[in-house]
Amino acid sequence: MNFPDATTSSNRELLGSLLNRQSQWPLGLPIPDADELSLVFQVAMRAPDHSNLKPWRFITVRNPATHELGEVFAAAALKRNAQDQGKASRSQATAAPMLIAVGVRISVSDKVPEIEQMLSVGAAAMNILNALHILGYGAYWASGQNSYDPDVRRALGLTGDNERLLGFIYVGTPSKISRLKARPSAAEFVTDWLGPVPDSVASRG
Ligand SMILES: Cc1cc2nc3c(=O)[nH]c(=O)nc-3n(C[C@H](O)[C@H](O)[C@H](O)COP(=O)(O)O)c2cc1C
Repeated sequence: MNFPDATTSSNRELLGSLLNRQSQWPLGLPIPDADELSLVFQVAMRAPDHSNLKPWRFITVRNPATHELGEVFAAAALKRNAQDQGKASRSQATAAPMLIAVGVRISVSDKVPEIEQMLSVGAAAMNILNALHILGYGAYWASGQNSYDPDVRRALGLTGDNERLLGFIYVGTPSKISRLKARPSAAEFVTDWLGPVPDSVASRG
């Protein structure tokens, strides 16, 4: 596989590529092959992880299994609402040729609170989004009620009481070239702290 070696390629080029990342929709074929996927998940393992708890769980669902997942979604939606005929749920599961379910297994730890373990999974998921983008694929992280439904979580194999589903990364090749979205200026969200903020300023919010 042709992948730039971090030691020889321009790091600035990689940064430039990250500056172009955005969620892509709609997504079609092709999807990453086995080698590419393995690389993508290795990049996920580069996420910071306090106390090495390895809280992430990723489950790939490829067409035709996406249709099975659609039935799981539809059954869960019907259980939540007897009027729900499952149409939206089925199309939610089959809207892209591949989904990566993003799961977390929370370990009991005196040192690492649940929020840190969630953040670690979020960081790993972000690495997946970036890696897919750098390989030329598109992705979209979405959640919704089915993601938080215990029946869906269990059907995906996240059966422990300490396991949660944090959504799905939809994966494929963008079906159209989308315009680069404008982003906020980072300067608005970054401050240079030089010492305690006086009460008079802090109270202004
Ligand atoms: C945990 C999580 C769940 C999300 N769920 C949804 C969702 O259900 N539907 C949606 O339209 N966007 C959802 N988003 C936002 C999209 O992934 C995406 O960030 C947003 O559409 C903006 O696109 P961008 O990534 O190009 O900024 C979610 C993001 C995160 C981090």
